[in-house]
Parts: sequence; C-alpha cells; structure tokens
Amino acid sequence: MFNLDSITRTNIKKLTPYSSARDEFSGEAKVFLDANENSLGSPLIKWYNRYPDPHQHLIKQKLSAIKGIASEHIFLGNGSDECIDLLFRCFCEPGKDNVIICPPTYGMYEVSANINDVEVRKATLLEDFQLDLVHLENLVNEHTKLIWLCSPNNPTGNSLNRADIETVLNNFNGIVVVDEAYINFAKQKSLVQELEEYPNLVVLQTLSKAWGLAGLRLGMAFASTAIIELMNKVKPPYNIGQATQELVLQALEEVGQVNDMIKILVDMRGALAGVFESMPTVEKVYPSDANFILVKIKDARKVYEFLLTKGIVLRDRSNVKLCEDCLRITVGTEQENTVLVDAMQDWFALQTK
Ligand SMILES: Cc1ncc(COP(=O)(O)O)c(C=O)c1O
Repeated sequence: MFNLDSITRTNIKKLTPYSSARDEFSGEAKVFLDANENSLGSPLIKWYNRYPDPHQHLIKQKLSAIKGIASEHIFLGNGSDECIDLLFRCFCEPGKDNVIICPPTYGMYEVSANINDVEVRKATLLEDFQLDLVHLENLVNEHTKLIWLCSPNNPTGNSLNRADIETVLNNFNGIVVVDEAYINFAKQKSLVQELEEYPNLVVLQTLSKAWGLAGLRLGMAFASTAIIELMNKVKPPYNIGQATQELVLQALEEVGQVNDMIKILVDMRGALAGVFESMPTVEKVYPSDANFILVKIKDARKVYEFLLTKGIVLRDRSNVKLCEDCLRITVGTEQENTVLVDAMQDWFALQTK
C-alpha cells in the first residue's frame, strides 16, 4: 500500500517552512512596511516593487476552472524543471535513494538526480519506445522513491500505453511522475482526472509548449493535497514572479486561441512528417503525439551540420541510445518548415553530385 509519510524525507517532514511577510499578513492594509520592499517604486512605467502572491491564488483558480481540478491539487513552479527538482528534494535522500527513468527521455530527470546526489536506474524503452515493464519492475528496490514517465515522450514523440502507466501506478509504492509537457498535442487523455484513483500519481504539465509561454516559466504539478503541501513547504517563497503571474492570467483567458494553435501545429506536424517520409535517405519518421517529429536519416550528424550552415538548428539526438541517426525537429511556422524542407532538398542535391 502506498504510504506518503513513509516515503517522504525525514528532514522535509520535520521542516518548518519559511514564513514570508505575505504569509503572515495577506489582507488589505493602508501601509505595507513588512517586507523590506522599495516603497518608492520601480525604474519602470509599471511598478514591480511588491513581492508577488507566494501561492499564486488567481492563477490556480483559473487553472482549476480550465482543468476541472481543485486548486489544492495544483502546484506551480518556475517551469516544470523546478517541479522536477522539488520532487527529488521532497522524496529522495541524497546518497541513499534511487529513482527510475526510461531513456531515451527528457534529460532533466537525470541531471536533477545528479544535482541531488540520487542514483539513477535506467529501464530503457523497448524498440517501439514503450515501457519495458519487466525490466522496470526488476530495478525497483526499497530505496526507489520515484519513477519518471514521460508521455508523450521527449525525444521519441510517442505516448506511452495507458495500460502500462496504470500497471506502474498500481504496482509501485513510491511516486510515479507522469510528465505530460506535450499532452495538448496528443490524442490520449491526460491523467489529471485520475488523482483520486492514484494517491501516488504526480502529473506534470507546462505552459512552455502548447501555450507558447516558454519565456515566462510556468510549470504545473497536479497531485494529492498531501503531495502538493510538501512541495509548497520546500519551494522558495516567491517562486513565480509578478510579471509572469500577470501575463499568465491574461493568457489563460485565451483557451480558444491556444486550441487554434494546437490544431495548426498538429496539422503541420502531419504535413512535415509526410514530406520527410518521402525524402530519399530518410529511414523512418516516428509517429508523434508532440509538437516535434523524430526522424531517422542517413548521416544525421552531417545533415545537422549542413543545416546549421544554413542557419537552421535542429536537435541532434544521433548519439542517444535507440535514437541513433535521429534528428528531432520542432514543428515551426509554415514558412520555417518550408525553409527547412528547401534546405533538405539542397542537401540531397549535394549528395547526388
Ligand atoms: C518532457 C519535458 N518536460 C519538461 C520540460 C521543461 O518544461 P518547462 O519549460 O516547463 O521547464 C520539457 C522541455 O523541453 C520537456 O520536454
């Protein structure tokens, strides 16, 4: 049986969190002289001299309505990258505990583990980029605190089988983190509605992809209230800046516009995949549920370098296990995609000379 208390780090359980000025007084007042801010203002037209809401109530209210999840189940981080780091710090004893990742996958799980001195065990995906459940189960021991699943997965682009994710959730007594950074581009449903069913589930999402707000840095974790409370205890007091909070609130009014962008990006993903499939040395275009495609192509590194000379930057994944000879291509604007396809024609022309 999953028992949150038994897998939480002792120092975090005992921790008295920082109590900010805004925690100690959050009502209306005439004069705020409690936070050592600069009362004269900011050297900007709009002032940012006051600390922001440490708990981002307005954003959570809005997200709660959009996602159909109560605010108490939402944690906001400075990008999902902050949520990733906080999960290590809440649950993993440095030098003692371990986590399982399923490569090829998003690189920050391993980097965050290394920063926190936490052992990383790798259950490499199968050839079809699905979970190797047998290997995964064999890696679990009494010190395994987190299993990281990324669906749709970066850099492979596919969604993990829902039944496999549920098998992991049902059989692991630690936390299962499902990173859904690319979920808006997928046919699969998010797991956020399953929090009641799985007390050990943490779902990560971000405004950096479909919402087009990577520069603002806003990541979301959805989990049981108990897990959210732990993350709140450990986070820096004012982790989401005032400007980000204001702009995110504005953006969250525009769900329709975001849905339109998602539709366009998904259509262009299909078109781009089709064009690459018909190219001479392309061995495979992997099916994608994300806003990028993974393409296996002869001489991937050379193609990458050639495109660089044309001012086009792709992500070279050719030295990543299972992604040998693969380039990851983010879907661009129609014009950017055309520039890329034209440059590829130049590359093929050079090969036949
Ligand atoms: C799977 C995955 N998770 C998380 C992130 C980071 O998201 P954020 O910008 O919210 O830190 C990325 C960014 O590329 C990603 O691919």
